[in-house]
Amino acid sequence: MAYKKRGNMQYMGNQSFWDQKFEQRSGGIMSPEKSLVENINLLKLGSVLDVACGDGRNTIYLAELGYALTGIDFSSKALVRLGRFLHEKKLKAYLKLVDLSSEQAFDGMGVFDNIVINHYRLDASKLSQLAEHLSEDGILFVSGFGEHHRVDERIRSEDLIRISDFDGLKDQFEWLKKEATRDERGGFVTFILKKVKA
Ligand SMILES: C[S@@+](CC[C@H](N)C(=O)[O-])C[C@H]1O[C@@H](n2cnc3c(N)ncnc32)[C@H](O)[C@@H]1O
Repeated sequence: MAYKKRGNMQYMGNQSFWDQKFEQRSGGIMSPEKSLVENINLLKLGSVLDVACGDGRNTIYLAELGYALTGIDFSSKALVRLGRFLHEKKLKAYLKLVDLSSEQAFDGMGVFDNIVINHYRLDASKLSQLAEHLSEDGILFVSGFGEHHRVDERIRSEDLIRISDFDGLKDQFEWLKKEATRDERGGFVTFILKKVKA
């Protein structure tokens, strides 16, 4: 509902919000997402599409492990930082400026062995397009603020990842993990699904 009202898929803020955030960010690459590290053995060897990759803490982590990475994000400032980190670490990844609010966001994107979406809420209609971009037994890893996370001016209700977002994926995926945790920072979810034969 909230997405309809907003009419796009900004997550926490628009493009200039994120560009400014990444331009002001100092220091090096951040640590990879804990739940990605904890569940790394559930990923399939091969390629990864990192959706809304930001400045690439997970892109770098996965590239270092030998995965072939594609990172997409609508912030050019984030991708510039990620390009610099890749260069410094002598790693390679294909980076593409993509606005996920566009109907055509995944057109021509190709097929991957894994799709990682960390701290970004892709809407249900886009989630249901992902099966065509995954190889057989391909893995969809989604992690971020869950529906029990505290809402404030930064994290809005429409930014929270809901189990119902995945209702349309039933025929294409089997669940490997459905985990919700809470700590002093709030409520987090990790959802891992495997593409099944049609
Ligand atoms: C909280 S950050 C997460 C970055 C990264 N996945 C991570 O875990 O560090 C959210 C990311 O979503 C991106 N984003 C927000 N709205 C977007 C949109 N409509 N299209 C593409 N990227 C978007 C932002 O630029 C930002 O990099």
